[in-house]
Amino acid sequence: MNYNMENDIAEVLLSEEQIAEIVKRIGKQISEDYRESEHLVLLCILKGSAPFFGDLVKSLEIPCEFEFMRVSSYGSGTVSSGELNIILDINRKDIAECDIVVIEDIIDSGNTLYNLKQYLYNKGAKSVKLCTLLDKPDRRAEHIKGKLEVDYSGAVIPDEFVVGYGLDYNEKYRNLPYVGILKREVYEK
Ligand code: IMP
Ligand code: MG
Repeated sequence: MNYNMENDIAEVLLSEEQIAEIVKRIGKQISEDYRESEHLVLLCILKGSAPFFGDLVKSLEIPCEFEFMRVSSYGSGTVSSGELNIILDINRKDIAECDIVVIEDIIDSGNTLYNLKQYLYNKGAKSVKLCTLLDKPDRRAEHIKGKLEVDYSGAVIPDEFVVGYGLDYNEKYRNLPYVGILKREVYEK
């Protein structure tokens, strides 16, 4: 069934122009920070980060390699740590030489990136830094508060459900070119 995506958006949170500025700023920061790195790897966390990843790599002024992972994070009932469910893994023999920058769309509870960072270090990565387009710090899980350092952050946003520029609701809205707040009536009906 066809539907008009725009009609489901309550408010535009980040316009295409604002996103372009964020991409430029973070691309510059990463380029400066990794100028001396011999093996920079940008790790795209599928699916939500694909548009951000695609734009960000083009804004880098230094060489980098691409990697992709698909993960989901879930707490198992009373266990507060959450578990990392790996659907597509990174698989490289030279990981000990890799400076990895994880590219995520949004940090919510923090479980995904907290666990992923640990996972990559356990696999032997030389260094791991975290980059996210959006951050909702008010939503951080209790056990992660104060423990998750976000190295590159595009924008801090309020506790609203957002879609577009990769972010989805039930796999929809990912192809909107901006980030918008989804109308509550869309997911509360
Ligand atoms: P965390 O492990 O709770 O930090 O989960 C982060 C993941 O939750 C993101 O990669 C998204 O897939 C999803 N997520 C969290 N907030 C939103 C939102 O506002 N819109 C769309 N997806 C979201
Ligand atoms: Mg996601």
